[in-house]
Amino acid sequence: MKNPVALEKLVDRDKTHIWHPLTQHKTAHPPLGIVKAEGALVWDEEGKSYIDGIASWYTAMYGHCHPNIVEAMTRQMKNLDFVMFSGFTHAPAVELSEKLIEILPGNQVKIFFNDNGSTAIEAAIKMAIQYHHNKGEKRDTIIAFEDGFHGDTFGAMSASGISSYNGPFEDFLLKVIRIPVPTEENSTEVLELLDTILSENQCSAFVFEPLVQGAAGMKFHSAEGLSQMIGKCQKEGVLCIADEIMTGFGKTGKNFASENLTHAPDIICLSKALTAGMFPLSITSCTQAVFDAFLSDEVSKGFFHAHTYSAHPLGCAAALASIELLNSDEIMERRAYITLQHEQFVSKIKSHPSVKDARSMGVIFALDLAVETNRYGSLRDTLYQFFMDQGVNLRPLGNTIYTLPPYVIADEQLQRIYWAIEGVLEIV
Ligand SMILES: Cc1ncc(COP(=O)(O)O)c(C=O)c1O
Repeated sequence: MKNPVALEKLVDRDKTHIWHPLTQHKTAHPPLGIVKAEGALVWDEEGKSYIDGIASWYTAMYGHCHPNIVEAMTRQMKNLDFVMFSGFTHAPAVELSEKLIEILPGNQVKIFFNDNGSTAIEAAIKMAIQYHHNKGEKRDTIIAFEDGFHGDTFGAMSASGISSYNGPFEDFLLKVIRIPVPTEENSTEVLELLDTILSENQCSAFVFEPLVQGAAGMKFHSAEGLSQMIGKCQKEGVLCIADEIMTGFGKTGKNFASENLTHAPDIICLSKALTAGMFPLSITSCTQAVFDAFLSDEVSKGFFHAHTYSAHPLGCAAALASIELLNSDEIMERRAYITLQHEQFVSKIKSHPSVKDARSMGVIFALDLAVETNRYGSLRDTLYQFFMDQGVNLRPLGNTIYTLPPYVIADEQLQRIYWAIEGVLEIV
């Protein structure tokens, strides 16, 4: 006899025991039951397909269920499923560290493994604080951009300026001083403000999303201004932490947004597209100087920070297969194609009366509507539903509509995203 539970829809069964992230369960619409994903598409349990216009939070850049990655993980799983990473090492981690160092900015030499974006940031912040502590200095202040987003654990949450719902935790956060992002217009003031912050505080780290602030609404800032800020911080011994969790692996055009900076960061955090969404894994890379500050005959000067699943072999195997794809001819061609299409779409719609600003960088396209709305306000819900009805998964951030599609998106699927966006411009 069939289990009656199996006959119910996922969306109904979900209600019983599941507590979803970023959700007010009293008022939220039910989630969509997803049963299959392939390439740029996901299918719901009614059989309807949706174009994944944001690559499932910027992860599935090579398309869902890419056969090369699935095969690499399957092979890995059959040979070595998992082993703890303290006291042991394994080939997938060693090979991945070698591969990452090959493609990261030249000053990066060590890879510390974590299991998600927030924990990569958490490790980076702890590294920076202990780096100074090991040198006999107590530096209690972190510098971060206004409207930055770095994750939801306490250190990451402290560095984030975007979370409007951090109220209950505010008294428990780290000491962070916020600074505006540098633009063409404000660079001089921002640099002066930075000088004041540096002279009046004991700063340990400067944490930033290089070039593009994702959760803030894909807001861009000046590479030159950021480079100058990094230069000033490094002069004062402040460790500069580039959060490339969203921007990493080709999103902004180059493999890493930090490649546009004239001063390389001391620490870089990567996750998301690192494993193409196939496995939760992240890394915190650093320079030799950072690593060396932890070398001592005193055991306690080491970095006593770990996660059970650090450097999980399946995640490392997924990452190795993903990096192989990143610079393959096929993906490079798609990266260039999407970049060009976005640029043309910006030109086409930027003077539409409903558009306040339209911009693109690499495969990131964003526009701000000429209407004001709350981050999670009703307009945002209306737009989201409009897109889903069109079979396109786009999640507006306040009045910002953006797409960051998988590199493998088909030409026609990309056009459907643009049409859906143009459709929205006619109803707001
Ligand atoms: C720039 C940035 N940093 C950190 C995070 C946090 O990553 P995770 O959600 O894996 O903890 C995110 C997630 O969206 C992000 O975009």
